[in-house]
Amino acid sequence: MPNAASPLVHHVTHPLVQHKLTLMRNRHASSTTFRTLLGELSMLMAYEITRDMPTHRVEIETPLEKMQSPMIDGKKLVFASILRAGNGMLEGLLRVVPNARVGHIGLYRDPATLEAVEYYFKMPTDMPERDVIVVDPMLATGHSAVAAVSRIKTLAPRSIKYLCLLAAPQGIATLHAAHPEVPIYTAAIDRELNDHGYIVPGLGDAGDRIFGTK
Ligand code: URA
Repeated sequence: MPNAASPLVHHVTHPLVQHKLTLMRNRHASSTTFRTLLGELSMLMAYEITRDMPTHRVEIETPLEKMQSPMIDGKKLVFASILRAGNGMLEGLLRVVPNARVGHIGLYRDPATLEAVEYYFKMPTDMPERDVIVVDPMLATGHSAVAAVSRIKTLAPRSIKYLCLLAAPQGIATLHAAHPEVPIYTAAIDRELNDHGYIVPGLGDAGDRIFGTK
């Protein structure tokens, strides 16, 4: 079974990423601090996940002469946020790719069947021309990740990647079993899930910590 050792799992070990993640994990970090760090981390993770984005050359004029210089086509990129915690990463991502489009997907877990049920879905038009980065800070059970990627695949985008901050080994295995071609970018792979589906050691409930709802 695909797992954390898969070449499609990109564990971003840059010291700045790890440092900021440590600060976020601290239970005493305020919501303001948590949100600020999440924004900064999202910018750093954007740097990694866009590393292989295609560029095209455009003609510009420096103060000295004309030249052909590379540009990315940010409009081709979609950040698809899994509500609600994914929204906490959008600001940082958009700061580095301001022309990117944004989609949202809302899912809740049916208490009887434990299946992910969609309650909101809005993506940009022309998805077959776009590269999608699905965004959620926590890849825990992997159920909402699988449901989100499955739904986005119905729109046939050019490519899909998955961006999180923390991943549980179970979440990675579940997402890769369902969507083996989707690369996962994460800042940490934690030990396990607890009985409530929380990642441990983790950082708690990302949504509550971002929005101060606890
Ligand atoms: N969602 C969270 O916010 N935290 C976890 O640990 C798992 C899922």
